[in-house]
Amino acid sequence: MKIISVVGARPNFMKVAPFCRALKAYSDVQHILVHTGQHYDVRMSEQFFKELDIPNPDINLEIGSGSHAEQVGRTMIAFEKVLRAERPDWVVVLGDVNATCACSITAKKEHVKCAHIEAGLRSRDMNMPEEINRLVTDRLSDLLFTPDRLSNANLNAEGVPDEKIKFVGNIMIDTLEREREKAVALDINQIARENLIDELFGRDVPALEDRGYVAMTMHRPSNVDQRETLEPAMRFFLDEVTKEYPMVWAIHPRAQKMLKEFGLWDEVIANPNMILVKPLGYHAMLRLNMGARLFMTDSGGLQEECCVLGTPCLTMRWNTERPITLMENGGASILVGNAVEKMREAYRSQINAERHAMRPELWDGKTAERIAKVLVES
Ligand code: UD1
Repeated sequence: MKIISVVGARPNFMKVAPFCRALKAYSDVQHILVHTGQHYDVRMSEQFFKELDIPNPDINLEIGSGSHAEQVGRTMIAFEKVLRAERPDWVVVLGDVNATCACSITAKKEHVKCAHIEAGLRSRDMNMPEEINRLVTDRLSDLLFTPDRLSNANLNAEGVPDEKIKFVGNIMIDTLEREREKAVALDINQIARENLIDELFGRDVPALEDRGYVAMTMHRPSNVDQRETLEPAMRFFLDEVTKEYPMVWAIHPRAQKMLKEFGLWDEVIANPNMILVKPLGYHAMLRLNMGARLFMTDSGGLQEECCVLGTPCLTMRWNTERPITLMENGGASILVGNAVEKMREAYRSQINAERHAMRPELWDGKTAERIAKVLVES
């Protein structure tokens, strides 16, 4: 059996690592790993391959940055050539990035079966590019591997027949469980010092203690692309949060670019309690999460990691495709959107909250094995 799996952007890498490993158990499977090249910086891509022992991609489509149409279009054109040359039995796509959508369309047009890992998540927010990617991919896929039973219900409601849906658990948690010990061993102050952004390099930063800092990531267009949203949020972080706790913000290139464009950058970097670090590697981010008093994020994956680690999490979105991680469902996350009053209220209610780890059904570290077995027996 020949399987091509496709990755493109950072959140794919921690999902593909256990899948590559699980396929190795089957000597009659030929596995080809394709990287679309959407993320290309060492810190957004290569570092994860090294840290997580992901084999080097067999093929890199080198599509790079661009508008969504450019990224999806370039990926489809390049991936069609790969499919015509390789004629695999399956194309496996993961998550909800542009590579996921582009390669599922290309596979189906080339009459190749497609399997989607992390199927059935729905935010019902069509302003989110990822929601469009999820809908298209799930509609086209022949096998849909879901992380939770809520996702099965979403697919059922859309008319997907049961025989296509396989509830296997969350593959990202396979990686978390495998890498946990390495993360625990890291020193949080060393992480902060070694990853400071260039402008802050060499500056004394406040000493960090476990449960003594707030961690943050923020990169979604809905949070960073408009001044009316970004500026009040920054006021809250700079004037309120950093007055109480140091914040460690692993800043995405998009957020950095927008802060500069809106003239907010100088003030952000001047704040001694705002520790801006470059995009972190997998283990460093896991360690940051383990020690955080509170996590503020708009990332989907971090909501899930906070849930399993028990870190109180304020999700800076109005909706989530991962409702299983919400506090009302036993998880660690509260939706706060990008309204400062809501952020403040949730911050006050959670800043002194106890950690409360929750493990949804089948988030047990064995998801990739279940997926590989289903695929090989298909
Ligand atoms: C993508 C995913 C998003 C995911 C995020 C995680 C889609 C639709 N979105 O969004 O789901 O949460 O990755 O990071 O696929 N850039 C660099 N270096 C890189 C890559 C990008 O500097 O290696 C910069 C470029 O200026 C680029 C911008 O970041 O324009 C945004 O990158 P892009 O790949 O378009 O989407 P993300 O916002 O990263």
